[in-house]
Amino acid sequence: MLEDLIRAWDGEEVVVRFDEPTGSWIFVCIHSTARGPAGGGTRMKTYAEPSDALADAMRLASAMTLKMAAVDMPFGGAKAVLAVPELVDGDRRRGLLLRYADLVASLRGTFHTGPDVNTTVADMDVIGERCPYVFCRSEEHGGSGNPGPYTARGVFHGIRASVRHVFGTDSLEGRVVLVQGLGSVGGPLAEELVTAGAQVLASDLVPGRAESLGAEVVPAEEVIGTECDVYAPCALGGTLNAETVPRLRCRIVAGSANNQLAEPADAERLRDVGILYAPDFVINAGGVLNSLGAEHLRWTREQIEVRLAGIGATLWEIYSRANAEGITTEEAAERLARSRLA
Ligand code: PHE
Repeated sequence: MLEDLIRAWDGEEVVVRFDEPTGSWIFVCIHSTARGPAGGGTRMKTYAEPSDALADAMRLASAMTLKMAAVDMPFGGAKAVLAVPELVDGDRRRGLLLRYADLVASLRGTFHTGPDVNTTVADMDVIGERCPYVFCRSEEHGGSGNPGPYTARGVFHGIRASVRHVFGTDSLEGRVVLVQGLGSVGGPLAEELVTAGAQVLASDLVPGRAESLGAEVVPAEEVIGTECDVYAPCALGGTLNAETVPRLRCRIVAGSANNQLAEPADAERLRDVGILYAPDFVINAGGVLNSLGAEHLRWTREQIEVRLAGIGATLWEIYSRANAEGITTEEAAERLARSRLA
């Protein structure tokens, strides 16, 4: 199974390690270094099989290549997965992260990492003890800190551009936005939306988080069928599929999760039911713009704000192209990215 996946992949390199002390599989998937060193987060998660973890890392890595190209960053795409038998903390977590850091350091800068699902700024500080190729360390340790609020800000700009495309005005006053997942991106996004006057509905696994943000709670199993203007998936990917798309009751899908489409055909399914889809790898690029921009390209706060707002402009252009060429927004976004990879 692992052999088949690696053989069929169109990426450049897969590094595999079994971490004996924690029983974890480590997969570093470097998809492309065509535009520069490959950047991508480190995800910690449990999977049924190691091959599921590898497949996830591979898909996430290709999405990073598209993301970097779509927002014109001089980086390639990669992703790492720490497939743990159960979530670890304390000394076991530290040990795993340090051994992982040695592995990343041994790649000598072809791969630069940052946080992703279940990894934090504190984890990046640990990795940074042994490895220089890490973004989003804490400010005390010379990093740019948590990218979540910047990813959220990019998504906010993307939602405004999408609302303007569908409703003719980008005012969020009274617009109903359903945020699925109030983690490091969904949380700050919900706050920005509330401030902008949107009516925020939220679904979250942690009790009390939605209420404290002033959002109306939607039970997890009701997210897909809930009527809203904008559905913002900000948890795990794959929520848009053959089974869920026909049940959606929104006009726009625009959120931060990576790999929202379960399969490519889901982009057509969304278009066919008249839902505008903001391609995930474009709308969620704010974290990368902030951390790579601040740490690698030495951008100022003002330059970063301009680039975050640019996510709205890029989506607007993608929507116009999709309309003009009769293609899905996903296809238009991929064409934009590929034109910068050629
Ligand atoms: N989770 C981030 C993403 O998917 C990964 C990342 C953050 C990579 C910051 C580099 C720097 O875009």
